[in-house]
Amino acid sequence: MEMRLHSKKRKPALWTVMAMMIAQLIFHPRMCTGGALRPGYYAQTCPNAENIIRAAMEWGMQQDSGTAPGVLRLHFHDCFVDGCDGSVLLEGPTSEKTAPPNSSLRGFEVIDAAKAELEATCPGVVSCADILAYCARDAVIMTGGLGWPVEAGRLDGRSSDASRANAEIPDPSFNVAQLIDSFARKGLTRSDMIVLSGAHTIGRANCKSVATRLYPVQDPRLSEPLAAELKSGCPQQGGSATFNLDSTPDRFDNNYYANVVNGRGIMNSDQVLFDDPSTRPETTFNAVGSAPWAFRFSQIMLKMGTIDVKTGPQGEIRRNCRSVN
Ligand code: HEM
Repeated sequence: MEMRLHSKKRKPALWTVMAMMIAQLIFHPRMCTGGALRPGYYAQTCPNAENIIRAAMEWGMQQDSGTAPGVLRLHFHDCFVDGCDGSVLLEGPTSEKTAPPNSSLRGFEVIDAAKAELEATCPGVVSCADILAYCARDAVIMTGGLGWPVEAGRLDGRSSDASRANAEIPDPSFNVAQLIDSFARKGLTRSDMIVLSGAHTIGRANCKSVATRLYPVQDPRLSEPLAAELKSGCPQQGGSATFNLDSTPDRFDNNYYANVVNGRGIMNSDQVLFDDPSTRPETTFNAVGSAPWAFRFSQIMLKMGTIDVKTGPQGEIRRNCRSVN
């Protein structure tokens, strides 16, 4: 890996990043976000809930290893639009699912399977929004990452609107300033954005997510070998090829950052994390230190899971995750 970490120029930036990380370890995200949620939320009301959800995930992974990246992304797209309220799961002619940024979401059948079993075991107790949060955690563990004690107690929302998904989901063509702004609107910092982008250590992208790097003008920062690879699967008229987001797409490791450092970020929004001087030091740091990044990833997933959580009359426990009661 050519990262020249020992050059004098890099050292101060890395120390700054380390200091930031230590500060973040001390100030746990929940101290900043209030904390209506808690671990073990279903211990009395549905003690087997987490086992049921894990079994559904295991079943899903047996059908398709894309289940893990699929549900991790589902939780992110849920939380960024109207908060973590399961609104991404609702069906309807103008629901979030119909929005272009959500066109390739996958893993819905695992949520349905978990919900069906939970309704049979403890009806009306476990929300779809919480199922998503547990599945995202299990997805990380099942691909070799570090888990976290999921905080639960979210209610499900009653509305879902494609226009809000279009407005809130960050686009892969975004530059760093736009990415930071998109995350800031959800109470997440630049550092949180860099850490969560590491989710692209698993899964894939479709042609539409890389096309703007190729046509009409090729991104000058795209290396020729990578450009040729992307173009071969994605001709200008469009194609159905998919590209692994990372060189180890089934392993939850920090190779994503190493790839980005080496100019192998698949989407523009990945590569800019190294290309932009404001995010380069932390991206480089994550490429080197797997354990600190993995730990922070679990912390920031907890923080993301608290975005605009619904309580009381704002929500319900859906009987079917695809429709309101
Ligand atoms: C930083 C801003 C982000 C942007 C611009 C972005 C954009 C995208 C895009 C365009 C894809 C490929 C979709 C396709 O072509 O089918 C993708 C895939 C994915 N994203 Fe992100 N994403 C971001 C952050 C996140 C976060 C925060 C998470 C989770 C915590 C996440 C998890 C994933 C996963 C796991 C995949 C692979 C999905 C699959 O294989 O089905 N992303 N993302």
